[in-house]
Amino acid sequence: MTDAKFLSFEGIDGCGKSTQAKRLAAHLTTAGQEVILTREPGGSPGAEAIRSLLLTGATDKWSAETELLLFTAARRDHLERTITPALSAGKIVVCDRFADSTRVYQGATRGDLRGKVDELHRAVIGREPDLTLIIDVDPEVALARGLARNSGEDRFEDFGLPFQQKLRAGFLALAAQYPQRCHIIDGNRTPEAIFTDVLSLATS
Ligand code: ADP
Ligand code: TYD
Repeated sequence: MTDAKFLSFEGIDGCGKSTQAKRLAAHLTTAGQEVILTREPGGSPGAEAIRSLLLTGATDKWSAETELLLFTAARRDHLERTITPALSAGKIVVCDRFADSTRVYQGATRGDLRGKVDELHRAVIGREPDLTLIIDVDPEVALARGLARNSGEDRFEDFGLPFQQKLRAGFLALAAQYPQRCHIIDGNRTPEAIFTDVLSLATS
């Protein structure tokens, strides 16, 4: 059905990636595959504890450097406790955000930290998804969708529209950097239309 065992969804806040990740996991499960749906930051008890430190509070609560360390610590725990065991057991892992979010959010928005992001990734993560689907949406639309959810975890949405525009450019640049792994999907459509593309990329 699919050769990709580890799939990630990426994009700016409110782009609709969680909606698509859920749909894909449900579809593959119905088709008889063993699937886990997980997310970052989070996806293991330790990483979920770090998540709440990161996503609540004022925008200046952490510097980009401190965030980088916390997101990476959460990812290491998630890999050790959830992702690697699932892949070893032959399951498919569908992950809502992974290391590309760090490359863009911490690496390319508030100063150029990309060198440090890459160094840390090499040192303690060292793993990429087999396939990454980037849902590309107009930042104004995405911001309205994200904030409308009122999740209480809006620290990054609270950086505002110019920040989301930088993020969008960052994800497009990343797709150009990793053309084999990363695919851009037009997210300015209905969830059903988007899912048709998700499915054809994930199962080809
Ligand atoms: P993300 O995980 O990227 O933040 P979500 O999937 O949680 O985004 O979607 C954010 C909000 O937008 C949710 O309320 C969701 O129901 C809605 N939404 C998701 N996809 C679409 C779409 N294609 N068109 C309109 N609204 C959408
Ligand atoms: P989440 O609720 O998953 O995002 P979304 O708004 O897309 O539904 O919250 C995760 C937030 O953390 C999101 O704003 C992106 C940010 N983030 C980083 O800054 N760096 C990272 O490495 C990760 C995984 C997320």
